[in-house]
Amino acid sequence: MKFLLPLCLLVIAAAELGAQTPEAIIPVPSEYTLTGGTYRFKEEPSVKVVRSAMSCPEAYSMKITRNGVKIKASGDAGIFYAFQTLDQMTRGGRIKEILCCEINDSPRFRYRGMHFDVSRHFRSVEFLKKQIDAMASFKMNRMHLHLTDGAGWRLQIDAYPRLTEFAAWRPQQIWKDWWTADRHYAEEGSAGAYGGYYTKDDIREIIEYAHQRHIEVIPEIEMPGHSEEVLAAYPELGCSGLPYKQADFCPGKEKTFEFLETVLSEVIELFPSEYIHIGGDEAGKGLWKTCPDCQKRMREENLGDVDELQSYMIHRISEFVSSKGRKIIGWDEILDGGLAPGATVMSWRGTQGGIESMAMGHDVIMCPGNFCYLDHAQDAPFREPESIGGYLPLEIVYGYEPEDVTMPKESLDHLIGVQANLWSEYIPSDQHAEYMYWPRAIALAETGWSSRGNRDYDSFRKRVMPVLERMREDGYSTFCLENEYGERKLAQSGLKHKAVGASVKYNQPINMSYPASGETSLTDGVAGGWSNSDGRWQGFLSDVDVTVDLGEVTPVHYVGATFMQLAGPYIFMPEKVEIYVSRDGAEFGLISEIWNDVSVKCPDLLFRSFDTLCDIETRYIRYVARQGGVPGGWLFLDEIIVN
Ligand code: ACM
Ligand code: ZN
Repeated sequence: MKFLLPLCLLVIAAAELGAQTPEAIIPVPSEYTLTGGTYRFKEEPSVKVVRSAMSCPEAYSMKITRNGVKIKASGDAGIFYAFQTLDQMTRGGRIKEILCCEINDSPRFRYRGMHFDVSRHFRSVEFLKKQIDAMASFKMNRMHLHLTDGAGWRLQIDAYPRLTEFAAWRPQQIWKDWWTADRHYAEEGSAGAYGGYYTKDDIREIIEYAHQRHIEVIPEIEMPGHSEEVLAAYPELGCSGLPYKQADFCPGKEKTFEFLETVLSEVIELFPSEYIHIGGDEAGKGLWKTCPDCQKRMREENLGDVDELQSYMIHRISEFVSSKGRKIIGWDEILDGGLAPGATVMSWRGTQGGIESMAMGHDVIMCPGNFCYLDHAQDAPFREPESIGGYLPLEIVYGYEPEDVTMPKESLDHLIGVQANLWSEYIPSDQHAEYMYWPRAIALAETGWSSRGNRDYDSFRKRVMPVLERMREDGYSTFCLENEYGERKLAQSGLKHKAVGASVKYNQPINMSYPASGETSLTDGVAGGWSNSDGRWQGFLSDVDVTVDLGEVTPVHYVGATFMQLAGPYIFMPEKVEIYVSRDGAEFGLISEIWNDVSVKCPDLLFRSFDTLCDIETRYIRYVARQGGVPGGWLFLDEIIVN
């Protein structure tokens, strides 16, 4: 992984294994053809580099013959990527003989990013450099640093020293302990203070290291939400003026803009990136509704609601960033209230925001949570470290296709790339972070680089296994794909029981946030997987109350349904289940009540069947699951099984 242009020649000379085929390359190149024979690396290997005009600065072609290697590229990036390909073919010099071939290669998308949440848990410069090495190997070219958030500010700003003397430190190491305590901060150097920040020299070092590997470092400065740490240090920038009482900047106050423009000026001076990310996600905006300054701003600027007030703020900041010759990126909430001209949108709440932005002529980076949020567990949650929840295995990440059939052809030029995101609330250590990134980020690297027709999961899985082995040899803590347990077994094949295909009457309406497949879902023979949002679990904020019609009077010996509990997204067991039966659909008799025995305090993913054995003949079965008494809690079930 530590492979730079002149060094590689030495490494290759030390090679010792047998011939390697081009199938070893990730991301898979646009075209490669075996031409017969092998090239054996000598102590002085023959690698010729020729500059020649090509369609894009990252493109390259490479001919490997019995006599040596010839690389053609128009730019430094193309040459660098050719050497990355060669490095993979020789497994970093472990292989001394490679098959002769011709490769023509260029990226599908110009933005191929990875996101690092260094706020929730600070990461060292060394950690970031190590990940840059791996990113470069897979031809990724953007490192998005989420530098600011409630859990800690991570960047030296000369004009506002309290950001790093105070807002970069907290009393609790574990994010959840901090979150469930009073979410306070600590003075730098005080007993137990946990956190950290990058000095400007640190950042220069990261930028230079990344630049040598053709990676641009994009800073994110969050606004208007996720800003608790700033507003604890400088409470006058919030609506209430009080520390620990606000998460959103006050866009009614001029000093908020003074602060943000001063910070952004220092950021822009430090980071040479094309883009400056200004956040924009998940602002509560609650205080804005009553804050006199915000209300005055809304009157003066003729803004109809707080979404328009956020849009006013983002427009102003965008104009400021543009005046310095840079472009903003924002999370897809920057659509609310109107997009700022020239803004690039990062679509995370699904793809709809991205699709709408493209149609309006804005560039879009796709990172929909269901495919690109690597903070979800990558294997069966009971075998994985605690995570934010969900289940996102390699195959699903790899299966993400950014080009959607609903995207108008004329807007496709605005789809500029993809990004792997890793929020690190539950990821305290560097090793754990690497484990969550690799190999799933490699899947997105291939999605970002390789053409659609060249991508194939079975091939990728085979190619990535030795790559991971090599990464482990090089000191990365990757997930071990060989040991993958996979999806919940029940969900891997169809269920067979007497109610499959039976019609279901909903006595309480389906909640449209989690409808699964609608009215057929509870009798479709499809069990849910590890994730409540996999489209197979039906979620209810009310009681579940459904009547299954078996079509005719039928002997029944078992009725049951499995519920999921996962405290993070507020999913709990029902307090009890009542099962009624009827031959005519009019008169129902209770045959069983099943009480819950799972504590709501258990944070882990759990499944429990609420079922009964019986010996009856019936046509209708009414299955009622009562809410568990946790206000705002969800009930999730996947199938009503009758035997
Ligand atoms: C986000 O995940 N809040 C962008
Ligand atoms: Zn305000």
